[in-house]
Amino acid sequence: MTEVDAPAGWETELFGQALASAPSVLNTQPWTLRVRPDRVELSERTDVVLPFHDPTGRDRTISCGAAAVNLELALRAVGRSVRRTLSPEPEEPTLRVRFDLVGRADPTVTERALHAAVPRRGSHRAPFAARPVPEATVADLVAAAGAEDVWIHPVAGDAELEALADQLSAAGRAYRGDEGYQRELALWTVRDENHRRHGAGVARSSMLATGRSVPSAGIVRPRTEVPDRADLVENLRRERMLLSGTDTDDASAHLRAGAALQRVWLTAVAAGLAGAVQTQPLQLPRIRTELARRFGFDGYLQTLFRVGHPVGRPPASPRRSLGDVLHREP
Ligand SMILES: Cc1cc2nc3c(=O)[nH]c(=O)nc-3n(C[C@H](O)[C@H](O)[C@H](O)COP(=O)(O)O)c2cc1C
Repeated sequence: MTEVDAPAGWETELFGQALASAPSVLNTQPWTLRVRPDRVELSERTDVVLPFHDPTGRDRTISCGAAAVNLELALRAVGRSVRRTLSPEPEEPTLRVRFDLVGRADPTVTERALHAAVPRRGSHRAPFAARPVPEATVADLVAAAGAEDVWIHPVAGDAELEALADQLSAAGRAYRGDEGYQRELALWTVRDENHRRHGAGVARSSMLATGRSVPSAGIVRPRTEVPDRADLVENLRRERMLLSGTDTDDASAHLRAGAALQRVWLTAVAAGLAGAVQTQPLQLPRIRTELARRFGFDGYLQTLFRVGHPVGRPPASPRRSLGDVLHREP
């Protein structure tokens, strides 16, 4: 953005941490924030384009939905009551979320817990510890997404694991050999010493720390292993995979899918778990359709979320400076 004022005032730290801790496709952080005395508006940056990873921009909008949850929790943490409106101005489609500041009220216990989890969340792409996620926690994660009108299907049983393994394998093989895809991935991969200079892109160290094979290698590189079906089913059996979906496939659904993703992720972190999201398999239309068919879903799959007990802490990714994304108005 060129029209940026130097950020200052009570909101600088608040919004800085909220945005800098949000997940986004290839860590593009495709948003800008406009702060007015009575409202805060999150817009989508349409100049961030990923023709191979996100050809229709769906993941960009999902990312904005996830960032909006962090903003809402930040406002609630300082006792601001907010009214959230998705896509508030039809004639301004890149304006994705508006928070009207409508009063004051203490944050609830859940809001406090989720807000405390914001800086602890990160993409845990490595395999998880060999301990099952308690079913009661899985139920909490499903409920967290339900608050955004997004359904979650926890994958269970041999038939479902096999159906998932088949589609993850097909996606992994397709991306491994796709030159354009790999070139785009290389462009958005950042060495640690360049974090400050670039401010966006996936940390190379976070990919090296990842598992070598599908599904734990969330980002498929030329040498990522795609195990045979039986081995992949065994790998999947050691994790919990949650499929999320919506009844429609428009911008509002994508924003809600992002918001649900972030609520689920923060709920998991608050419960001592870790997670990693994958949408790349769903960017292949035939995989998205086939997965829905094999699982008998009527709606549209939006994200795949792996959840489990953490092993270590995921490496940090670069972040854009707040001056790059925030615009204040007196
Ligand atoms: C909509 C969306 C799609 C994503 N897709 C993938 C994916 O397919 N594979 C993957 O490993 N990470 C994926 N991520 C995770 C991002 O790469 C990650 O959030 C970003 O690099 C920032 O790192 P952090 O999550 O550790 O803060 C996705 C994140 C979002 C919000």
